[in-house]
Amino acid sequence: MVARIIEVDDFDLVVFGASGDLAHRKLMPALYHRFNDGQVPAGARVICSARRTYSNDEYRAWVRQAVEEHVKDHTTEQLDAFLDTVTYLPIDIGTGAGFDALKEVLDARPDVVRAFYLAVGPDLFGPICEQLGQGKMVNKHSRVVIEKPIGKDGTSAKILNDTVGRVFDEHQIFRIDHYLGKETVQNLMALRFANALFEPLWNGAHIDHVQITVAESLGVGGRAGYYDTAGALRDMVQNHILQLLCLVAMEPPESMDADSVRDEKLKVLKALSPISEQDAEKLTVRGQYRAGASAGGAVPGYLDELGDADSTTETFVALKAEIANWRWAGVPFYLRTGKRLAQRVSEIVVHFRPIPHSIFSGEAGTISANRLIIRLQPDEGVQMKIMIKDPGPGGMRLRQVPLDMSFADAFKVRNPDAYERLIMDVIRGNQTLFMRRDEVDAAWAWIDPILSAWASAKDKPRGYTAGTWGPSASIALVERDGRTWAEDGL
Ligand code: BG6
Repeated sequence: MVARIIEVDDFDLVVFGASGDLAHRKLMPALYHRFNDGQVPAGARVICSARRTYSNDEYRAWVRQAVEEHVKDHTTEQLDAFLDTVTYLPIDIGTGAGFDALKEVLDARPDVVRAFYLAVGPDLFGPICEQLGQGKMVNKHSRVVIEKPIGKDGTSAKILNDTVGRVFDEHQIFRIDHYLGKETVQNLMALRFANALFEPLWNGAHIDHVQITVAESLGVGGRAGYYDTAGALRDMVQNHILQLLCLVAMEPPESMDADSVRDEKLKVLKALSPISEQDAEKLTVRGQYRAGASAGGAVPGYLDELGDADSTTETFVALKAEIANWRWAGVPFYLRTGKRLAQRVSEIVVHFRPIPHSIFSGEAGTISANRLIIRLQPDEGVQMKIMIKDPGPGGMRLRQVPLDMSFADAFKVRNPDAYERLIMDVIRGNQTLFMRRDEVDAAWAWIDPILSAWASAKDKPRGYTAGTWGPSASIALVERDGRTWAEDGL
């Protein structure tokens, strides 16, 4: 059980793409957990749809398998009860066959929350929304959930958002960035705005720089087809990493109200110093993994996995970003992410400035600057690195130790998956943890020039061996400024 259950209104949730990977790994397990914790109201319906002609029983067997595979402590009794909420309706989005049947099902309950979850590729957002609009299935209780990628640049994002916007109002559109649903990410807001301790120090006078690392040990595997059209900059930086940066850098919002938070994040995105074509070589590094070793075994390189020797898609990116405002001027934000790196670790490290003067003799050893580490995964938690005296009589030797709070140790409750929180927020109609359209536009406005600088540069991404920390140029990017990548959680 998670800590506290806040009831939600009765709902019909329609999942398009219900036979896909996202539904299997995330959506069905998340819904099962919310059901098991007693949050799904009696009568709520999960209406699943895809092109395949499953019977209800066949589809429920598929969901059963998804829950059995992804939820460790499920019980057969609860799973059976959960499956009673699930029904299947085949819909062919191309021909429109099946939408009439969906309308009939939905018309039976016109007054409950009606959420459409589009767990499909972005090319299908338009056709689905059009059918829902024409079929008069969108009412004042409706909302739509869309997954990234929202476009592949600013122009295509605009077209996509216009398409969805023709049928749903902005307050009905929930653009998921699942990083915002992660417990530690929300804890970043608690840490900053529910403690008086950090805010006075949260600026360039006290913070030297910030590092954000989202490293994965897996390669692209079966997703190579999609991934090759995106690359690390679009897949991770444009959304997840920029959202993390916003939460670190934003001004205190007026309240936790969705628009207050999103207004502040938008200001950060707009204040990002543009990376021009001339600067791109200095401020960005892109890499692509070659064959190497991961988790003790040999793994192929990206090009072999993809089966295309000419791809120039980056599987690693490191960037130096700057935020041109009073709080952050002169404080670099070093960002990096990649596939097939040495470890799976995501963390934000806030490096404070060194003390201005030491009263200790040389014997005391080096006095390292304080660091605040917000660990997203694995082992979510917060750590503050502080200097203390080495215990024992004689002399004064100093060393740095962590003040450590692992959430798993501190709270004896299950850490919910991001999707559990986000799906329930959709039902509640709370958009705080979802991206507003202007945020998506502002993020692309910063990313687009980097993409075009890379496109016009004649070079290819730098190769790095799978199982390492990326190209050496990424180390140089930080070392050039007299700094190093933190290795706290590693
Ligand atoms: C997704 C990306 O949005 O996030 C994937 O498309 C990536 O490429 C994934 O692997 C990482 O999410 P998490 O929650 O496992 O860190």
